Formats: sequence, structure tokens, C-alpha cells
Amino acid sequence: MADAQQTTVQFARGLEGVIAAETRIGFVDGNLGRLVYRGFDISTLVEQSNYEEVSYLLLNGKLPNKEEYSNYVSRLKKLKYLEKDEYDLISKLGKVSHPMSTLRTVVSYIGAKDPRTVEPDVAVQEDLGLELIAKMPTIVAAINRAHNGLDFVKPDPDLSYSSDFFYQSLGRKPSTIEAKMLDTALILHADHGMNASTFAAMLTISTLSDMYSSATSAISALKGPLHGGANERALSLIQKVGVPENAEKIIGEMIDRKDKIMGFGHRVYKVYDPRAKILKQFAERVTTANKQQVLFKTANKIEEVMISRLGSKGIFPNVDFYSGMLYYSIGFNPDIFTPIFAVGRISGWVARALEYVRDNKIFRPKALYSGETGPKKYVPVNERD
Ligand SMILES: CC(C)(COP(=O)(O)OP(=O)(O)OC[C@H]1O[C@@H](n2cnc3c(N)ncnc32)[C@H](O)[C@@H]1OP(=O)(O)O)[C@@H](O)C(=O)NCCC(=O)NCCS
Repeated sequence: MADAQQTTVQFARGLEGVIAAETRIGFVDGNLGRLVYRGFDISTLVEQSNYEEVSYLLLNGKLPNKEEYSNYVSRLKKLKYLEKDEYDLISKLGKVSHPMSTLRTVVSYIGAKDPRTVEPDVAVQEDLGLELIAKMPTIVAAINRAHNGLDFVKPDPDLSYSSDFFYQSLGRKPSTIEAKMLDTALILHADHGMNASTFAAMLTISTLSDMYSSATSAISALKGPLHGGANERALSLIQKVGVPENAEKIIGEMIDRKDKIMGFGHRVYKVYDPRAKILKQFAERVTTANKQQVLFKTANKIEEVMISRLGSKGIFPNVDFYSGMLYYSIGFNPDIFTPIFAVGRISGWVARALEYVRDNKIFRPKALYSGETGPKKYVPVNERD
């Protein structure tokens, strides 16, 4: 039975609709289909900016001037390298562990070796955050290599954030369109409201724990299929449908059975997800360039069937529908899709954790107690039935 005090605040399962923090970083308008970082529409940023600049924007609240940009990029480039024991750990876990489990373990391991993680002040948290942003592509690329039984490719000092991630992951330099596509995908994933992994990052740092622990919590939360895993399943659906001619029948039957179609629908967006709109344009261009048009055409037909049947309910493609297909078409295997998400999202995790800890209040929600209140009599073990 709940006591009177516990029910003074409204009970919301999963904290749905509860406002638990204030932010100036990012805003999702689900009705108008807008995603805004620090006042900039996401479409403006993907057209005119790049991941490094967007990362700076999320962290600092403004675009960098020339000198700030060059210092920021140099710091990221300097910090992106891993040590031998870190590569050894990735090799050891490489084939046996799921890439997300390896990522969680490696981030935790690097933090464990760093004495600055003991009671860090905010300035130290900022340094740790920058280091995490710098190293994340190198870690995920190395995990990709090890998981596929390939030799590591070391960072290239001259490449940009996303191109070096591409190069270290796939062992070749990206074409212009591939580089722009991957940079765009990372920007589109950089921040998205107070989702589960961002909340996990903020919750951990609110105890005044360190940024590596905060990122480890976020990665753990992202690992679950309800958060980071839908693009893998969306791709397998597109592959199962195979050709556009099959879409009407297969998808129609799934809708009739009330199956959930992966890569469609969103808790916040009730119109077309602005990230999916941008990725769809890249999907068409990239698959034309690498002769995988059938993937795109099949996806496009699935979208058509879905919108004609469920568009009136506010069901449209979300970011996961085209992202998996894009990653796959340039050579990434599906089990690395969620770690790629983490490479983009690391800037959002760090920015929001720092914003929160600068004006900190430890998170401590309550649960509505619905168990027995007693007091019950204790019966010794040898007298129980
Ligand atoms: C993301 C998601 C959990 C949002 O759920 P939600 O806002 O709670 O929406 P609901 O589950 O209440 O769905 C509302 C209606 O739309 C239908 N619907 C929602 N998403 C659907 C989908 N992907 N395929 C088919 N029908 C869907 C529901 O069955 C429900 O129908 P009903 O009114 O007849 O019962 C849900 O759309 C989903 O599971 N999508 C697939 C997974 C996915 O792509 N996740 C990545 C999100 S970025």
C-alpha cells in the first residue's frame, strides 16, 4: 500500500513525460519534425558544418572561431591514439564478445588506469570528456577489426574525425560521398534529448563519479535493443524483403498481423524523422555509387507501403531505417552498427553530463511501494513451513 507522502508526486512509469533536468544543448520537436542543436537546425549543420565543429558546439554553446576550431581539432588529433595494452584487450575480447560489451569494457579499462578519475573536479571532467570524444572512433574501429579477425589499422594523423574512423575501421580511405555520409550520420546521432543512454550518463555523473564511468553507463544503456539496436533489425527486414516487388505482400502481411516494423515509428516524432529524411537522400546517392541500388529501392518501397497503411497514425521511417542500410552498403557488418551510434553520441553524452554536473543535484527518484507494510512477525528458519 502506498503512503500518502509517496503519491504527492505523479507516478509516471519509465519517467515518461517527467521533466527531470533543464538543458540548453538540444531540442527535439516531435510535431514539427525538427531536431535542434544549440539553436541550429540539424539540416543546416549537416550541410555546412562537420562533426568536430558540431561536437565543439554541443560542448561550448557556440560555433568556434578559426583559432578555437584549430585548437580543438589539434587536441582531438593528439588524444586519439590508444596504447598497446588497450589494443591487446580489444584483441583478447575481439571475436568472443559482442562489440558493445567490448566497447563498455575498454572504456571502463582506460578510465580505470587513469588516476585523474579519482574525485575529479569539473575542469578534469572536461579533459576526460575530450579524451573520450577523441578516442571513441579509434576504439570502435579497433573493435571492428578485431571482431572480424583483421589486423588493426592505426590512426592517420591527417584525416578528419569521421574519415579516420572510416579508414581505421575498413582499411581504406573513404570516397568524397562516403566521407560526407559518415560525417553526416555521426552529426545526426550526436544528441537526441534525454534518451536512456544520455540519462544514464547524467545519472552517473550526478553522484560526482568520473566521466569514464559516466560513458561506461551510457554505453551499457545504449546496448539494449530498445535503444541502440533497431537499425540492425531494419536492415535484416530490407534484406528479407529482398526486392521492391515483394514489399507490398510481406509488409502488408506483417501489418495485418500487427507486427512492429523495425525502423518505423517514434515515441517523440509523429511526423517524418528529420534525421531519416537526410539519411534517405544519402542512401540513394551512396547505393547508386556502390551499385547496391536494390537495397535502396526495396527500402523505398517498404516506406511507401508503410506510409500508405500507417502514415495516418503518425508512423514514418525513423533514423534507424536508412542508417543500417547505409553502413552496410559501405562495408560495415551489422554487429558494429550500435558502436557506430556510440561514436556519434559520445559528444552529446559528454556535453550533457558536463552541463548537468556544473549545476549538480544527485538524481534520486522514488518508487511507489506496493508491497506489504506489516509489521510482520519474524519466524526463525527451522520453525517455518
Ligand atoms: C519506437 C516505438 C517504440 C514508439 O512507440 P510508441 O510511440 O509507444 O507507439 P505505440 O507503440 O503506442 O504505437 C502506436 C500505434 O502505432 C503502431 N505502430 C507503432 N510503431 C509501429 C511499427 N514500427 N510498425 C507497425 N506498427 C507500429 C502500434 O502498433 C500502435 O497501433 P494501435 O494504435 O493499433 O495499437 C515504436 O514505434 C516501435 O516499436 N518501432 C519499431 C522499433 C524502432 O524502429 N525503434 C527505433 C526508434 S528510433
